[in-house]
Amino acid sequence: MNYFFLSASFALLLLATSCGRTGSNTSSIDPGEKEMQSVQEIGTSAADSLMKSLGGKLKSALQSGGPVAAIQVCQLVALPSTAETGNQFEGVQIRRTTLKPRNPANTPDETDRAVLLELEQAANNTEAPPESKIIWEEKVARYYRPLMIQEVCLNCHGKPESFSPELKTTLANLYPSDQATGYSLGELRGVIRVDVDRKQAHK
Ligand code: HEC
Repeated sequence: MNYFFLSASFALLLLATSCGRTGSNTSSIDPGEKEMQSVQEIGTSAADSLMKSLGGKLKSALQSGGPVAAIQVCQLVALPSTAETGNQFEGVQIRRTTLKPRNPANTPDETDRAVLLELEQAANNTEAPPESKIIWEEKVARYYRPLMIQEVCLNCHGKPESFSPELKTTLANLYPSDQATGYSLGELRGVIRVDVDRKQAHK
């Protein structure tokens, strides 16, 4: 009786694993070495380019008008320059996303969320998160670049108690559902996600 039960479950187990294997045929989406390298290169230059462009705009806005004026600049330029940077690369789309969005347009999807949670855990365990992470989907490879909280970010993403009353009012007016405050130095703020068309990467 026991023996029968055991062998029956063993057979079921075998069946389940073999079905699993044929069912989720991952081999068709696994990248080759060349494609892996190509996506890594495209993702790195697109993310670098966005960081340079947004970082430069943020710095000059902060210098000329302080956080309140800079918030208004961010609000006007962040989404368009992110899209524009993507357009400079063939077959590439870029977005920024986070577990605590300021702009609801940057809300993560399920895959983003899983990557963000993994990177956040790595950052919290005091080991620095990896420099990048790639998720291979059928048509698109998602390259993720972690964005960490540095000193300058605290101006607008730090503890609300440290904000001037004008800054609080500006944020509340522009972003009524803002979740992106209360961060400390070294925490994961979010990611840049670069979607690379895999047909493009094969070229
Ligand atoms: C001058 C204020 C200001 C500073 C300083 C600032 N941010 Fe932001 N941040 C914003 C605003 C405003 C938005 C929303 C932009 C939009 O509407 O698309 C934003 C959005 C973001 C987003 C997109 C996700 C979301 O929450 O909508 C990320 C990621 C981000 N910031 C990271 C950073 C990092 C990292 C730093 C430091 C290097 C930084 N920010 C410094 C104001 C600022």
